[in-house]
Amino acid sequence: MVPKLTTLFSALGCALGLSACDSPRASTAASGMTATHRPWVPRACPDGGPTFEPAAEDGSTNAKLDLCRIDSASLERGAEPPELVAARARAAARLALLSQDEKLRLVQGSSGAFVGNIPAVGDMPALSLQDGPAGVARFGDVTAFPAPIALAATWDRALVQSFGAAMGEEQRGKGVMIQLAPMMNLARVPAAGRNFESFGEDPYLAGELAARDVLGIQSQKVVATAKHFVGNEQETNRSSADSRIDERTLHELYYEPFAASVKAGVGAVMCSYNRVNGAYACENPATLGDLKAGLGFSGFVMSDWGATHSTAEAANAGLDLEMPRGQNFSGLAAAISAQSVAQARLDDMVLRLLTSLERVGVLGDPPAGSPTAVVNTAAHAELARQAATESITLLKNDAAILPLDPAKSVLVVGEAGGPQPSAVGGGSAFVNAPYVVSPLAALQSRGNLTVNYDDGTSDSVLAAAQAADVALVFVHVPSSEGQDRASLSSGADALIAKVAAANPNTIVVLNAPGAVLMPWLAQVRAVLVAWYPGQENGNALGSVLYGDANPGGKLPLSFPASEADLPQPSSAHTITYAEGLAIGYRALDSAGTPPLFSFGFGLSYTSFAYSALVLRAGAEPGSVSATFDLTNTGTRAGSEVAQLYLGFPASAGEPPQVLRGFERVLLRSGETRSVEIELRPRSFSCWSASQHARYVPSGTYRITVGGSARDAALHAELEITGSAP
Ligand code: BGC
Repeated sequence: MVPKLTTLFSALGCALGLSACDSPRASTAASGMTATHRPWVPRACPDGGPTFEPAAEDGSTNAKLDLCRIDSASLERGAEPPELVAARARAAARLALLSQDEKLRLVQGSSGAFVGNIPAVGDMPALSLQDGPAGVARFGDVTAFPAPIALAATWDRALVQSFGAAMGEEQRGKGVMIQLAPMMNLARVPAAGRNFESFGEDPYLAGELAARDVLGIQSQKVVATAKHFVGNEQETNRSSADSRIDERTLHELYYEPFAASVKAGVGAVMCSYNRVNGAYACENPATLGDLKAGLGFSGFVMSDWGATHSTAEAANAGLDLEMPRGQNFSGLAAAISAQSVAQARLDDMVLRLLTSLERVGVLGDPPAGSPTAVVNTAAHAELARQAATESITLLKNDAAILPLDPAKSVLVVGEAGGPQPSAVGGGSAFVNAPYVVSPLAALQSRGNLTVNYDDGTSDSVLAAAQAADVALVFVHVPSSEGQDRASLSSGADALIAKVAAANPNTIVVLNAPGAVLMPWLAQVRAVLVAWYPGQENGNALGSVLYGDANPGGKLPLSFPASEADLPQPSSAHTITYAEGLAIGYRALDSAGTPPLFSFGFGLSYTSFAYSALVLRAGAEPGSVSATFDLTNTGTRAGSEVAQLYLGFPASAGEPPQVLRGFERVLLRSGETRSVEIELRPRSFSCWSASQHARYVPSGTYRITVGGSARDAALHAELEITGSAP
């Protein structure tokens, strides 16, 4: 699975006759397996590079693209940015001043005030590492932002970057130099315990948002950590289970968010607890080789806490830092003396660490703060509120019961609506919220409403529900690192059914980490998913319930109709990702199984119309720009997340459609905006497991644009000349 540089020719490069492609050849994979490569048939390319031809000048949407001259290296990784080269030079100068003992101390954790600590060496300060994906973990006086899955439901790149920057600022204020986030494992298993820390089930969405999170965090001179590399899609048996994932699936799905983070300049990657195809992730030469040599990651790989199992094997596979202590790397000095680890490898570990620190600028300007500093601000609370508001996803709204009429009396049912409001998930990502505004308190503070409360635990709820105009049932579905959810049940089916039987205007608000089943769906008027909303829970929800804000969230993961439709956490020690590329909506589409609510779906208080899809040559050679008009046809301002899905030619063996572009657009009532989504050559590429490289399949591609994975409002076809695998 390690990319073999000698075979990193593209199909297209081969087609150009740039290498000896006309005879079968064999390559040796790191595993010792051999793969026979099929011969390439040289093809003539047009002069002058990639060409784009509209099929007709009359506005026809179909077009032709010739990507004959795109090579696979450019599909996988770009050139190193100058600031990285400069940071590495500064790091090399520091490295030259370190003694062997100092180098050894820099590659293993020690004790201290943070979740991870590295002692000071030479003129360098001690290094401080802290979780996590949803904000500064565990310390007090921080902002409790909505969980990353809520951020993902906004599909708002700029908002996620602001969130990253705000978290980074708070981390720095606490004295943190390396933040253990973002988390980018995919929600392959709907019940996985850490889905709330993730950006959902789609590798493109997760990659786009993770990259923005990284940019935000690192803009504050804090190193970001892409975690957990790789194949850590459930908690059950996470420390020992072996995730069996084929090469193509690794590259097209599970590496993708890491690849996007590497492009964004992420400084650290955390290898995961589990094994991948036999070897532990922190001593896996295949996957760590793919990360460093293949994706071009130039930063350092740190172990998850206690995920290192060897000294020389881990060091030689590519682990650069053992956390939280040097249980194994304390043996590095001896391993170097015994020549089982090269001195150059230790130097490379330290160089990688120093390069990432230099690149964000933290060594020249270390943080002045400490864990007891007060770092939450009014501006961050406002951002938390905005993010929570934007994330709220409206799944059902029969007869437009929402937004609520303030003249109607409301019964709030369930502790999550009152004394126990939902805020954050559990485990290492747990954030100590300074306060949580409950939905009940937020509704009461609106002043002009009749609001009552019942905790829903006794039959008193029936009379209370009958007496109210509207019943709002709040359900918190807990989730935490360390265990998967036992099922996709909300845990409140009986309560919801009981309240719905008593009051026809029952609305369910789910504070959930991801998908839940809804056996009561037909009996309720409306359903909102408010995720884990952070400290501003009630304020965000109140503004959506009463229409000050329009719900604009879209599902970043599928809600299946039945648990059997998507994988459950496996209790086996070998977890076979037998579905390959077919996870989430890709699985449901492939099987022809309708979801309960589709990936990308979310209703609004207004309505949108899509029109006039046109394909043109994009700004970059070989890219295609898809433009279309989006109109707010309703009576309120609101955001729509326009999504572009690509259907590959059948020969490519892809799922029926894959997300390749999206834009969140805010429109006034009646406003029309032209939206542009650019598709780069990489968008059309697949991974060839025989060539260990990306290539662009030739054939007819279908482009669909709409408001969810199940809403092909517009479509076009694109004929691409690429190459055979
Ligand atoms: C988690 C990591 C976390 C680390 C330090 C581990 O249990 O898997 O995500 O960063 O602990 O808290």
